[in-house]
Amino acid sequence: MSTRKAVITGVGGYVPEDILSNHDIEKMVDTSDEWIVTRTGIKERRILRGKDQGTSVMGTGAAKELLEKTGVDPAEIELLICATTTPDMIFPATANLIASEIGAVNSFGYDLQAACSGFLYALSTGAQFIESGTYKKVLIIGADKMSSIINYEDRTTCIIFGDGAGAVLLEPTEEPYGVIDSVLRSDGSGAPFLHLKAGGSRRPATIETVMAREHFVHQEGATVFKYAVKHMADVSAEIMERNQLASEDVAWLVPHQANKRIIDATSKRMGLDQDRVMYTIHKYGNTTSATIPLNLWDYESQLRKGDNLVLAAFGGGFTWGATYVKWGYDGK
Ligand code: UT7
Repeated sequence: MSTRKAVITGVGGYVPEDILSNHDIEKMVDTSDEWIVTRTGIKERRILRGKDQGTSVMGTGAAKELLEKTGVDPAEIELLICATTTPDMIFPATANLIASEIGAVNSFGYDLQAACSGFLYALSTGAQFIESGTYKKVLIIGADKMSSIINYEDRTTCIIFGDGAGAVLLEPTEEPYGVIDSVLRSDGSGAPFLHLKAGGSRRPATIETVMAREHFVHQEGATVFKYAVKHMADVSAEIMERNQLASEDVAWLVPHQANKRIIDATSKRMGLDQDRVMYTIHKYGNTTSATIPLNLWDYESQLRKGDNLVLAAFGGGFTWGATYVKWGYDGK
């Protein structure tokens, strides 16, 4: 049996320059910096501004940075998967637009939509193509322009989300590093609690859907919170158990950044202190598919070859999952 694994060999990230702080939001809706920090851990988030600037702009930025850092020729990329809930257009796929922008002329690509768990689903999918021996260079991108689907008059959602993109490169290795195991789950009965009502085939855009603000995120926060705490902690514990990982074996929890209280509940269940948990929520908020690769981008210099990482997410769908990654290189 082949021992080939898909190992992450590079990370890139992109966040827009424009900052939307809690104090800026205080001027838009009835809220306070104190409430937002206490209830979510968020202080500010990035917003992609400018005419015709879509998610692909950020995905391209993250991919280009990764290619520059690793010195990989874009023509060598064989597959590009873009996890996103806010594609530039319903079609063509944002992955195709990014591939074209970065010069990945020999790749094929597609988008994968699993809301906040999108990056984990895409990472697992990409890893299969490497493990099977089909491809040698697969680019996985998580990118979302959440500001394009947020109602900035709704204080229950506009405080949470931000824009950004992160990317990782997967390559084969025979060494015991890489994407080791994943527990991935979904449950469509969670849809009513977190969804976008209109703009799809069920309720195409009309004047009425626009006037009724149905093209914005609808979230029943407290219900989603309850499921998120339970499911993210459950799968994180499950992946540890089935890979015989004790708390002290885990170097980092790399969690989706939706709410600091959800992250803290998960790390507590895993028996991890806060200094082994990646946090970027204070400065980027919830960037949906981008939070996990942005964590890796932010903490790359602290990662060491052989570190055991547990990546965990929960989001719309409902979708959730945890992935065990053994890190493959020393960060600089
Ligand atoms: O990443 C995708 C998955 N999404 C998540 O994981 C998000 C999960 N949910 C959450 O993070 C939290 O539910 C929120 C941050 C969205 C809300 O926090 P909460 O502690 O669950 O608040 P709540 O919805 O239970 O509301 C409590 C109170 C309400 O007032 P009343 O009815 O008690 O008078 C809200 O109207 O807080 C009020 N409230 C606010 N007050 C000030 C809600 N949003 C705000 C706000 N500022 N921005």
